[in-house]
Amino acid sequence: MSQLDLIKSSIKSIPDYPKAGIIFRDITSLLEVPTAFQAAVDAITAEFKDKGITKIVGTESRGFIFGAPVALALGVPFVLVRKPKKLPREVISQSYTLEYGEDTLEIHKDAINTNDNVLMIDDLLATGGTIDATAKLIRRLGGKVENAAFVIWLPELGGKERLAKEGITSFSLVSFE
Ligand code: PRP
Ligand code: ADE
Repeated sequence: MSQLDLIKSSIKSIPDYPKAGIIFRDITSLLEVPTAFQAAVDAITAEFKDKGITKIVGTESRGFIFGAPVALALGVPFVLVRKPKKLPREVISQSYTLEYGEDTLEIHKDAINTNDNVLMIDDLLATGGTIDATAKLIRRLGGKVENAAFVIWLPELGGKERLAKEGITSFSLVSFE
């Protein structure tokens, strides 16, 4: 089995969660297979190892799981984008819509510098709202961000096109129609 087949086959699909009509693509089952988890981290790391990335930004909460090990593998700082009122220092905030709701994200004001070339990492790309909001936070702080990496891409929800319009190229490991 290829590494990508191993990754895809370890992701469970749960119909009608969290509400009717949504098929939830569950990465917790992938995390329980160390070879699959390692393969996902390695594939993202390999794609970006020579691209001049100076910081990884991971978005709460599943973005933390993949963002942190990639940051360690690339030897660059890891920055958290979190849901409201979780970060202790001064923050800026950005609201966004999800496939199944609405939310706000925050980042520490001092976490990004004007010379940063940031890679955003999350577990899954659906509508792109989460990563669009994350990119806006990074850019408001003066950082350059042109790339996002995901384990899972849901092509039908248009996230890749939405992010492309914002100048962001999406890299993903597996997709589910
Ligand atoms: C999920 C997922 C992505 C986002 C993708 O996060 O982990 O961050 O939705 O959807 P989008 O492309 O339409 O924005 P969720 O907000 O459910 O938070 P969680 O990671 O804390 O479960
Ligand atoms: N986040 C947004 N849409 C999702 C889905 N279908 N499965 C898992 N996480 C998601």
